[in-house]
Amino acid sequence: MVTVVVGGFFGDEGKGKIVAYLSLKDDVDICVRTGAPNAGHTVVFQGKTWKLRIIPSGFINRKTRLLIAPGALIRLDILFKEVNETESWGRVGIDERTGVIEDIHVNLERSNEYLMKVIGSTGQGVGMAMVDRILRKLKLARDFPELKPMLTDVVDEVNEAIDKGLKVLIEGTQGTFLSLYHGTYPHVTSRDVTACGVLSEVGIGPKKVRDVIVVFKAYVTRVGSGYLPNELPIDEVKKLGWVEYGTVTGRLRRVAPFNLELAKRAVVINSATQVALTKIDALFPEARGKVRWNDLPLEARKWIENIENELKTPITLIGTGEDVSEIIDLRKEKGFI
Ligand code: IMP
Ligand code: MG
Repeated sequence: MVTVVVGGFFGDEGKGKIVAYLSLKDDVDICVRTGAPNAGHTVVFQGKTWKLRIIPSGFINRKTRLLIAPGALIRLDILFKEVNETESWGRVGIDERTGVIEDIHVNLERSNEYLMKVIGSTGQGVGMAMVDRILRKLKLARDFPELKPMLTDVVDEVNEAIDKGLKVLIEGTQGTFLSLYHGTYPHVTSRDVTACGVLSEVGIGPKKVRDVIVVFKAYVTRVGSGYLPNELPIDEVKKLGWVEYGTVTGRLRRVAPFNLELAKRAVVINSATQVALTKIDALFPEARGKVRWNDLPLEARKWIENIENELKTPITLIGTGEDVSEIIDLRKEKGFI
């Protein structure tokens, strides 16, 4: 049983929290991380915060096997740091063909004015490593003896698990409009981050997927340059309490109100079966920490129902706070589990 989680806007929608919640709640057997260390996923659980750039957010369930997709990229120093921070020794598997970012890629990217200034790249060497991959000279995980204990065949592991009826959760990174193909080119990242791109990175065929959950935040944020309709001035953002900083770069995020047109397009591109809406408490403070639909203020319920009608897709998960447990799960009521 495969569930794919992807971002619907420009990243930072709260995928980390959603993936962490699902792996605990559904007792997921395997969680696979795609993408690269330019993407930071935050998990807050029982008073602790993790900011992850490689390890899947499903680490929070101690029984979940944690895999890194063949199409993903890692950096060795970040990998080992995160394995320690998440106490995940022994349950992390890296595909032999996962790409490895080296210092040269980071240096090349940071000295590239076009990428750093015009595009607003996070400067993590991801794009430059992807260039080397396309030129067929990037080193892969199998080229590093220190990775040997963790090497595996993710395609085999995942597809065998699917055949056995086990639960597999795929963690996408960034958001639909940062996709190399479907985003606001050239202000995009260096990979296709939509559901199909994510599946291709892992090595799962589209027919094996049961659910695609597209995650939207209650407002839109974007770091770096590029199209952001209805962008709010910083004073307004402060008044609203919507100030955010990038997980990886610490840059102030640009902010706009929820964008229905973009959301509709993201639902189409990803063939969403469900929608997750995060940070509802940022719009409706009384929603904070609520775990039942009926405890949400009426205004919040109306706002969510309107989006659901417009998107013609069930909103099944509603984030009401930072912690993994601060969520309203409507999947049972809506017939998904
Ligand atoms: P790059 O992928 O680091 O080259 O960055 C290209 C663009 O994508 C820049 O606007 C980045 O800010 C943005 N970007 C890359 N990764 C993330 C992410 O995880 N969250 C939000 N924006 C990102
Ligand atoms: Mg992020």
